Amino acid sequence: MQDINELESELLSEISNAKDLDTLEAVRISALGKKGRVSLMMRGLGQMAPEERQEVAPKLNQLKKSIGDAIDTAKGELNKAALEAKLASETVDITLPVRPEHKGRIHPISQVTDEIIEIFADMGFSIAEGPDIEDDFHNFTALNIPPEHPARQMHDTFYLPEKEDGSRQLLRTHTSSVQIRTMETVKPPHRIVVPGRTYRSDSDQTHTPMFNQIEGLVIDKTSHMGHLKGVLKEFCQAYFEVDDVEMRFRPSYFPFTEPSAEMDIRCTFAGDHIKVGEGDDWMEILGCGMVNPRVLEHCGIDSTEYQGFAWGMGIDRIAMLKYGIPDLRAFFDCDLRWLKHYGFVPLDVPTLGGGLSR
Ligand code: DAH
Repeated sequence: MQDINELESELLSEISNAKDLDTLEAVRISALGKKGRVSLMMRGLGQMAPEERQEVAPKLNQLKKSIGDAIDTAKGELNKAALEAKLASETVDITLPVRPEHKGRIHPISQVTDEIIEIFADMGFSIAEGPDIEDDFHNFTALNIPPEHPARQMHDTFYLPEKEDGSRQLLRTHTSSVQIRTMETVKPPHRIVVPGRTYRSDSDQTHTPMFNQIEGLVIDKTSHMGHLKGVLKEFCQAYFEVDDVEMRFRPSYFPFTEPSAEMDIRCTFAGDHIKVGEGDDWMEILGCGMVNPRVLEHCGIDSTEYQGFAWGMGIDRIAMLKYGIPDLRAFFDCDLRWLKHYGFVPLDVPTLGGGLSR
């Protein structure tokens, strides 16, 4: 049998001579593998007389351990060197332009949603979200639209199959349901906007079964209709990028607001585009009002203490108007040629300081 010390120094020098991981692995197999030199010596223990075995076995174990340790250390060093070499060779010049050209485009709905959020965020609103699949309570009842209320018929609701208890879930018909979800779970005051998808069984040039809305809600102890007007005026001026907007509030009816109004802005239509702030036409852009005390009570809020206002607006429509997009249905066709024409460059993030649409 080879001398243990001799074998050890032989193996250690092979290990320290291994310049890459493959060579090191070959050394490991030749020493500690099934038929490796150390393994074979250990197998030889079986044939030894007991006294000899008692003397040799600890030495062999020691050898196995010292070779194993040396291989681990060498492996660590080779890995580190490999990583350092890789880092040195793969430097990135962060001053280079991101891409030679922007091929992807941001969908106008995403762009307009970002623009609207930017405006309201600047006024101190935060974003709230809720589920697309709703229950009757959040979409209707809590918003003061009880069963059999005629307003339910106006919503062309998509219902899911009836459950065992007779209830039916539905696809939310408006983002107003998120008013309820927010007021149920967070204590007032509230100042939120809710962008999101909404669904109604309706389809023509100006209606699609899925569309986008943005809801606004302010609840505190003092907010009144004058604040509502101020917030919406600020919004219209920023969104349409004009210095002044003339607004008209027409009395209307929504079960969840009292009083309720629809808001129009003065404009002229020039082809598909619209010019805001001048002209003889009026364009309806949203519904709004003071939150009905019954809605507050449904959410466990004391309506003698709290009050506020809300509004709801179709995102798709104001995107069409601002950017001269003639057919609503094209928004959802996934036609890349259309997206190339109407889409936005990804890095042109809308900001109030840098310009919303430039
Ligand atoms: N939920 C209404 C709709 O989808 C829009 C609306 C009107 C929302 C008035 C409001 C509001 O919050 O106050 O037609």
